[in-house]
Amino acid sequence: MTSAEIRQSYLDFFKSKGHSIVPSSSLLPESPGLLFTNAGMNQFVPIFLNEIPCPYKPARAADTQKCIRAGGKHNDLEDVGLDTYHHTLFEMLGNWSFGDYFKKEAIDWAWELVIDTWKFPANRVYATVYNPDKTKGDPADFDQEAYDMWAKLFIKAGLDPKIHIVNGNKKDNFWMMGETGPCGPCSEIHIDLTPEDRTPELEKRGAGMVNSSDARCIEIWNLVFIQFNAGADGSFKPLPAKHVDTGMGFERVCSIIQGTKHFTDFKNAKISNYDTDVFSPIFRELEKLSGKKYTSTLPKAGSSGDTEQEKIDVAMRVIADHIRTLSLSIADGILPGNEGRNYVLRRILRRAVRYGRQLDFNELFFYKLVDVLAQSLGPVFPELIKNKATVEKVIRAEEESFSKTLDNGISLFNESIKTIHSNDTMLTALEVSEGSEPKGGIIAGQIAFKLYDTYGFPLDLTELMARERGLSVDVEGFNRLMTEQKERSKAAQKKEIIEVTENDADALPTTFVGFDRKEVNIELATYKIVFGKTEEDTVKARLSFTPSPFYAEMGGQVGDTGWLEFDGKRVHILNTLKAGHGSIAHITEDIVELEELSFPAKAVVDLERRALIEAHHSATHIMHWALREVLGSTVGQKGSYVGPDRLRFDFSHLEAMKQEELRKVEELVNERVSEASKVQWAERPYAEVKNDSSIIQFFGDKYGDVVRVVDIGGFSKELCGGTHVRNTKDVGVFRILSEGAIAAGVRRIEAICGPSINLYLETAFLKQEEELLPLLQKSGKKLGLKTGDSDPAVSWSHYLSNQSAVSTLKSEILEEDKAASKNKSAELQKQATAQAPAWIAKATEVNGTKLILENLGEIDPAFLQLAAGELKKSFKGVAVLAGSNDGKVSLLAMVTSTGTSKANAGQIIKEIGPIVGGKGGGKPDLAQGGGTDPTKIDEALAKAKSLLE
Ligand code: SER
Repeated sequence: MTSAEIRQSYLDFFKSKGHSIVPSSSLLPESPGLLFTNAGMNQFVPIFLNEIPCPYKPARAADTQKCIRAGGKHNDLEDVGLDTYHHTLFEMLGNWSFGDYFKKEAIDWAWELVIDTWKFPANRVYATVYNPDKTKGDPADFDQEAYDMWAKLFIKAGLDPKIHIVNGNKKDNFWMMGETGPCGPCSEIHIDLTPEDRTPELEKRGAGMVNSSDARCIEIWNLVFIQFNAGADGSFKPLPAKHVDTGMGFERVCSIIQGTKHFTDFKNAKISNYDTDVFSPIFRELEKLSGKKYTSTLPKAGSSGDTEQEKIDVAMRVIADHIRTLSLSIADGILPGNEGRNYVLRRILRRAVRYGRQLDFNELFFYKLVDVLAQSLGPVFPELIKNKATVEKVIRAEEESFSKTLDNGISLFNESIKTIHSNDTMLTALEVSEGSEPKGGIIAGQIAFKLYDTYGFPLDLTELMARERGLSVDVEGFNRLMTEQKERSKAAQKKEIIEVTENDADALPTTFVGFDRKEVNIELATYKIVFGKTEEDTVKARLSFTPSPFYAEMGGQVGDTGWLEFDGKRVHILNTLKAGHGSIAHITEDIVELEELSFPAKAVVDLERRALIEAHHSATHIMHWALREVLGSTVGQKGSYVGPDRLRFDFSHLEAMKQEELRKVEELVNERVSEASKVQWAERPYAEVKNDSSIIQFFGDKYGDVVRVVDIGGFSKELCGGTHVRNTKDVGVFRILSEGAIAAGVRRIEAICGPSINLYLETAFLKQEEELLPLLQKSGKKLGLKTGDSDPAVSWSHYLSNQSAVSTLKSEILEEDKAASKNKSAELQKQATAQAPAWIAKATEVNGTKLILENLGEIDPAFLQLAAGELKKSFKGVAVLAGSNDGKVSLLAMVTSTGTSKANAGQIIKEIGPIVGGKGGGKPDLAQGGGTDPTKIDEALAKAKSLLE
């Protein structure tokens, strides 16, 4: 049977049992907990959880599902290429019952298909059943029902159920999609593939090979009996109905049927998923492109290939596997990128491209495999044909960008290994044993980081290259550098730079019409897919069309967002930027939809967001005017940010603004806003306005021949290319959030206005609550906070009054704390004074030195100091005091007279600290330490004594 026939025969079989045949769902999962669709049952989760009714009658379905297991709970990436049956992407054939049939039919039909229809030899079949390990807290009970059903079938076939049924605990026989979700005990079918003819002895060995990671006995089908919903708290709650969820490894079944020539020859069988017609078309193409042969050799366990041919075969398997994953994901709209699942794809692609070097590919090759794949899988997954051009384009561009740095990265890697024996700290792989072929060494974290940061090598690629040479990578060091870098880049402001170069002949010069219009019909658009030069970028397209209502980021005002609408579909515009050559770049990540763009299309700006931006922009101009009123006309703008969330205005001013000045500015702005003045703008020849002192402009700045003058109520006139409200009343209430210095002589004000205030306050009120809660718990006081109001001005005053209530409460608590700690100290001091004479009386003498050793039990840590102070008044000798508080040990040693010994307090603590699981030290006369094991205090004190002996 061909693979297509096997797939069809599975579906036909279940169709004959009343199942609806449904299409595979997308690789992009609905469940937020999954990176990729990883099992056939994913698309049915809402039915299992009773969230939607089952749409099939009878309540049964079957399909073949694309699955990716490369990240998350199920991850096979590391094994791909090294054996015959691991993949990142595979097809899972499955049949489901939604509260309809249960174990009996699931098991009987599995037997019927495998044994009666496909004719697998029954003596090579093993079934596993769930047997919980209660000592490990496994859920549910032994699956006696499944056992009995399988036993009946094996007995009928003349086989011993005791041999052919194998028990497994939660690890092997309890299936979970992720940490949470529908789950239940399962029963699997494993096939013994050993070349020998079957004898009872060998059968026992076959059973022994089940679930032991032995490629000669592999699982082909998992029958899950879904009965529970796993909660995030570790609970397993019974579901209202019982369901069946089965999953069969399609490529594995093909490998057995085809590899044994339909079970006629196990002796000379070549059983490998890669030796089936699922993969052979890809290998033929790879052979054609590389001039090398695929010969199915496998590396020894633990090796990545010892001979040249083994390395070639590993590389071919990896590449063939990875092209399937990349192509089907991109066809489903998941693109390589820098976060989450998108980064998983980028990593897989980069691994494939690196393996290409093993086949001596020095040119782009990976994208060339899309075509044969589309030919063989297109009939099953039509999206592969529909989106083929995009898939090729995306893979090609990703491949191109990585290829640029790959060789340099490989050189750096090889160099770093050569310098293993040198002392160069930057490029040292440490702890390598002697010999030219280093074994067991560690690639320094700096190298792995440099490969990642400069050359785009994902960590797992570096690890893989290291493994190939018997080395490992200092992952901890790598992670540390990653964290540091993340912090650095968070601190630095990120800016998106998109240039249109001479090569972008297609970018259209764009007329911006968005001062007045927020929606425009367009007839022509061009776009270019842009691949990030850095790891920061994801795959995007920059789109140009004209005219455009989208404002491109400039002069502090952020770029617009919105969408293109056509044919009931949308391409979302995530940002808009100036792109040179008079073009505006509209940035989108909806590349798959973009390929379908048809006209007429409508370009629509996100109106609500734009209104907030315009309010902030006009508010910036009015505030600029007010600042000059209050501080004088020396105030000059140095920079600004105008967004939907707030505004920021940097200006020259030598000292911090006083509270009254800030209040005055706020007041002036609000007065002007409430006058409801008109805002007007007009284009004027620059020559006409350049000497007009009533118009604020930046001397030294270059303006074009024509400039825009924005006039707010006649009192504020500025040259400005941004967009504004039509009337000042649309600015709404204006509030200053903060004022501070950003450089010598440059101040920054952050402010907010209109409806953004309520948005801002939503979080601010929550923060106040969060701040208040522990204060109330601590003080036992009661205080209710005010909440927001639909009127932003009222909300703001509530916010301010909350602020002052919280800060009053804080200072009250501080005062009370101070008083309490004073009382406590006095109390402890009293105790020390009272107890010291008894300790002195109990003192022993060691080698002529008086010695106090006291285990004070549960004490306040501050007590030791006070006790020492008290002893110092009258005691001459050595005192070692210890006590504990909530499991933490405190130690103190004091030497007021050494007598004839060489007692040294610092030394004593250093020696006894480790006994209580800690450390400490100090001066010869006074030292302190701590630890974590109070049960060892007496032992520590005994040791202190022995030090004086
Ligand atoms: N959900 C089970 C699995 O993935 C059976 O379909 O193995």
